Amino acid sequence: MKKTTIWIDCDPGIDDAVALAMAAASRDQLRILGISSVAGNQVSDRVTENARRLAAFYGMEDVPVVRGAREPLLKVPETAASVHGESGLGNCRLPDTDKPLASENGVAYMAQAIEALPEGETLTLVPVGPLTNIALLLKVFPQVRAKIERIVLMGGSASGGNHSASAEFNIWADPEAAQIVFQSGLPIVMCGLDVTHQSGLYPEQVEALLRSEKPVEHAVGEMLSFYADTSSRGRTVACIHDAVTILYLTNPELFGGEWASVQVDCTNDINRGMTVCDRRAKTSPKPVLVLNQVDLPGFQKVMLEKLASI
Ligand code: RIB
Ligand code: CA
Repeated sequence: MKKTTIWIDCDPGIDDAVALAMAAASRDQLRILGISSVAGNQVSDRVTENARRLAAFYGMEDVPVVRGAREPLLKVPETAASVHGESGLGNCRLPDTDKPLASENGVAYMAQAIEALPEGETLTLVPVGPLTNIALLLKVFPQVRAKIERIVLMGGSASGGNHSASAEFNIWADPEAAQIVFQSGLPIVMCGLDVTHQSGLYPEQVEALLRSEKPVEHAVGEMLSFYADTSSRGRTVACIHDAVTILYLTNPELFGGEWASVQVDCTNDINRGMTVCDRRAKTSPKPVLVLNQVDLPGFQKVMLEKLASI
């Protein structure tokens, strides 16, 4: 079966770390062209170091890791340290690695890698943090659009926010960048809170990972134990938001959604960062598939099998 070529843009971040593990366990289906960091959950130095160590820890030494945007396009940077901790990965201490950063100018590197794809080959962008890098890529290197098949992103919500009453964190962190991406006209799969709040592991499943002797399972158990305390807020599962993007790519049958046109509130008012999802019949075009259904047992089975395989 032909592999799907992807580029992962992330702000690790505990759920980003699980998404990277899902990708590392799916290399029979996914060709990972590269990984870029973006300031979000933590500052650029932290998320970049975490991305570098996670790539090595998961056995992705061959995948280039680059540093992307150090701050949003316009907004003053604000992290989510209360959720992911000062390190960005909770209490988990990953082994150091001598894997070098492939570039300190990640957006230019991403553009170059995409343009170098053979004639007729396309890729899927998988952003799971603020959309700063993706907006810069589309604006500064518009010629890459022809090689972007679609964008499968974690962000947004059609049903209320998590960082504010109406805004999800990734969109809230850089609303202007998100508006550029959602209005780009490219096909988008939006893995927003409507589906990610239903997608995660039960406490007993996290505890089982924590008890594991296997380094990756144990590390993910450590991260999710921290994350469950800081992010569950009475939910039955620890929501592993970012992992939905990768599992959508490997197991799309687990998910369902509705097509919409999406605009981002970029005002400085109460709804700043809100994704306004227009699903009305009369609206056209509707280039965004907003996921809102998941087969949770199926999601958990695939996730745990993938974690066990690394
Ligand atoms: O709202 C959840 C999103 O914000 C996830 O990507 C998480 O990593 C944080 O960045
Ligand atoms: Ca993230």
